[in-house]
Amino acid sequence: MHDTLLLFGATGDLAQRYLFPSLLHLLHDRLLPPDFRVVAIGRSSHDDTGFRDWLRARIADDDDASAGALDDLLQRIRYHAVDLNDPDAIAATLSAYADRPSVSYLSTPPDLFGPACLGLKAAGLLEGSSRLVLEKPIGRDLPSARDIDATLKAALDESRIFRIDHYLGKAPVQNLLALRFGNTMMEAVWDRRWIESVDILVAETAGVDGREGYYAHYGALRDMVQNHMLQLLALIAMEPPAAMDADSVRDEKCKVLRALRPMAPSCTAADSVRGRYGDGVVDGRAAHGFEHEGNAETFVALRAYIDNWRWAGVPFRLVTGKRMPSRATEVVVSFKPVSHWVFERPRRDRARPNRLRMRLQPEETIELGLMGSLAAPEWGATELQPMSLDLSMSPTPNRRIAYERLMVDALKGDQTLFVRDDEVEAAWRFIDSVSDAWRECDAPLHAYPAGSWGPAQAAEFLPTTLAGNGRGRS
Ligand code: BG6
Repeated sequence: MHDTLLLFGATGDLAQRYLFPSLLHLLHDRLLPPDFRVVAIGRSSHDDTGFRDWLRARIADDDDASAGALDDLLQRIRYHAVDLNDPDAIAATLSAYADRPSVSYLSTPPDLFGPACLGLKAAGLLEGSSRLVLEKPIGRDLPSARDIDATLKAALDESRIFRIDHYLGKAPVQNLLALRFGNTMMEAVWDRRWIESVDILVAETAGVDGREGYYAHYGALRDMVQNHMLQLLALIAMEPPAAMDADSVRDEKCKVLRALRPMAPSCTAADSVRGRYGDGVVDGRAAHGFEHEGNAETFVALRAYIDNWRWAGVPFRLVTGKRMPSRATEVVVSFKPVSHWVFERPRRDRARPNRLRMRLQPEETIELGLMGSLAAPEWGATELQPMSLDLSMSPTPNRRIAYERLMVDALKGDQTLFVRDDEVEAAWRFIDSVSDAWRECDAPLHAYPAGSWGPAQAAEFLPTTLAGNGRGRS
């Protein structure tokens, strides 16, 4: 396990909210090497003490900050203020840390990846077994992603590049793999013969708060669908890998992403909805709309198809939005109706097809909807009603921050939960087809009030599991 972490963007929002708290928890639980050190790099002018005080004020309330763990973390940190656009300055400042193999983590906007790579390379920090971790977004479309990739590849090879999608670090997301490949009964019904449709929903109550500029440039299609939602789709749809190693898993995910049918302009009206939230109420509080002169969406609904033998003709409905009434990330697999219905009650048209609902956050639950008559009196034993087989982790376990797992894996050199170059390209190819089709058809941007389930036009894309909220397909 490498023991030197160079963290670019150390005063940024992600570092404050997730990366340093993750390091704190890992140190507290003694999951990092004894000589672990952090080289924090940012634009703000602090000296070591100034940065440590700044950081202490931000993470001192963390549950793990007591018991000496916070002091332990702080005294392992050295801070350097460097202009991240200046490769020479980066090289001059950081070359002293090339004494040990390291992991450089770029938690910066993508336009800084190039200069950072050049500086790190010149400092000798990308040699040997040293690694590079990158945050999304990797580009804004396929050509820009390829440009970034070419810059990276000029400095080091793919086996040492770790592209983060933090959804892959979430334990409930990894559980999708466990459920699919740890059970025979799933695989037996996991294809177009038995599955009618798949819903993937990522609803957030949060808005774009504080990230207006970024969001105006990227929008929800690039911020959420290109990465998190397509990764969930790939995990649901991939073929069983021969082994759980990095290349076997990523080969299978990539095949799915490559098989996504590009969106044709003629399909945009039927297969997609874009929206942007206006003023409204979320969690009982007034929320202001996202106002920006551009055309960026905060809500996307898509119907996607995977053109391969397993999934031909099965719609995958992807819905994500900000300022929704509640937070919910879930995958719902709806099975085909029973082929020949023999019961009088309920009538066939009222029987409910089986449905597997995997809720990933905020609670972790798995529900299998079945028809049965357990509660009926004997003479009504063939009066069927919907029942549910429920698995819930109650109370929901205290999950680690996704970044904890990913940082440990990057320090160890395990790429299984990181995104490979060809996956990024395949995902962009699909996303570009959607944005090109939107542009060509001048796809409307529908308004929805904050605190609602998106524009009315998207109702048919929402999973039936939201029906209790007054929306959703019935
Ligand atoms: C990030 C997006 O990648 O994921 C954010 O940039 C989004 O816009 C966040 O809010 C959602 O992550 P999580 O872990 O809260 O579901």
